[in-house]
Amino acid sequence: MRLSLASASAEETEAIAARLAVRLEPDDVVTVSGELGSGKTTFVRGACRALGITATVTSPTFTIGHRYEGRSEVSHLDLYRYDGLQGADWGDLEPYFENAIVFVEWPEAGGGALPPERVAVSIRHRGGDGRLIELVSTESALLEGVE
Ligand SMILES: Nc1ncnc2c1ncn2[C@@H]1O[C@H](COP(=O)(O)OP(=O)(O)OP(=O)(O)O)[C@@H](O)[C@H]1O
Ligand SMILES: [Mg+2]
Repeated sequence: MRLSLASASAEETEAIAARLAVRLEPDDVVTVSGELGSGKTTFVRGACRALGITATVTSPTFTIGHRYEGRSEVSHLDLYRYDGLQGADWGDLEPYFENAIVFVEWPEAGGGALPPERVAVSIRHRGGDGRLIELVSTESALLEGVE
């Protein structure tokens, strides 16, 4: 199922992410795709807030990911600088996937080595602060709760 939602502000994107986040469980993987500056990190920030994470949520830059503790553990990966995962690289990533809800920016760079996602999010610019947020999942009940 595919759910398309319009967002008119960063706050709306965070609210959409929050409605998804409260329905997730540890070991769920959510990929977050979209061009530079489309709002991927903003989306993850909204999800983290809803999961009780009070730490500042910023894009991982000098590391591949961050791991936060809230009501659930949450990992936030950014694979922008990765071009194709090798076996050794997956070893670096694996700890982020243990007992955590995982959000992955630039999943395309994972080269198919990532575990299957429960929800694939993609964000597109729609002029100014407008964005179109698409959520794709095989579980229609999950997405209906977000709508
Ligand atoms: N509707 C919107 N949804 C999300 N972000 C928005 C929206 N309108 C404006 N913004 C702004 O766009 C910027 C998005 O930045 P953000 O870091 O979230 O993007 P990103 O996709 O993670 O970028 P990068 O590709 O560099 O990782 C923020 O400054 C945010 O406030
Ligand atoms: Mg980002």
